[in-house]
Amino acid sequence: MTPKHRIALAATVAAVALLGALGYVVPPVLAVTAQAAARPAADTIARGRYLIRTSGCNDCHTAGFAMSDGKVPEKDWLTGDALGWQGPWGTTYAPNLRLYFRTLDEDSWVKVAKAREFRPPMPGPSLRAMTDDDLRAIYRYARALGPAGGAAPAYTPPGQKVAGPVVVFPAPPK
Ligand code: HEC
Repeated sequence: MTPKHRIALAATVAAVALLGALGYVVPPVLAVTAQAAARPAADTIARGRYLIRTSGCNDCHTAGFAMSDGKVPEKDWLTGDALGWQGPWGTTYAPNLRLYFRTLDEDSWVKVAKAREFRPPMPGPSLRAMTDDDLRAIYRYARALGPAGGAAPAYTPPGQKVAGPVVVFPAPPK
């Protein structure tokens, strides 16, 4: 090692030690989280909007959306629907997500989206396949839209009558 190399090596060691002392050497997982948090808020909300538009959430969670080829103004998106989905599981309704996302914080939402077993036809597998960042983006977009609309009808167990229109599913294949 030439003296020049020795000086360079010493400088690198000193720099690494300094960064370490300043807390710059962080585990990779923390580094990734810090990066996500550093993304500008407007970018995250735009990403959430993109995900809602491309993942079909409006088809069920926005009244009239699927039947009008999406001709529902954005101010009414995700306000839930009184159309029932009926099958062996009973009758489900796509809830108002504008209100739902105000009932839990962002971290809890990520946990719920990964763990909750939804009744049909909610595409639980699609939610579970999303990255934490995407789930956070959806949350922030829905929150940014603000609260609107009322509650969708409550889930009704099998065999019980419901008022209002329903889509009837056949029994699943055995
Ligand atoms: C095919 C219709 C359909 C689509 C598409 C759909 N959902 Fe749902 N969603 C439902 C139904 C029905 C329920 C109620 C499920 C139950 O009762 O367990 C539900 C429930 C939910 C809930 C629980 C809300 C609460 O009040 O507990 C969340 C959150 C949710 N959906 C988010 C989404 C998101 C985000 C998307 C898009 C990625 C989406 N859904 C797409 C039909 C749908």
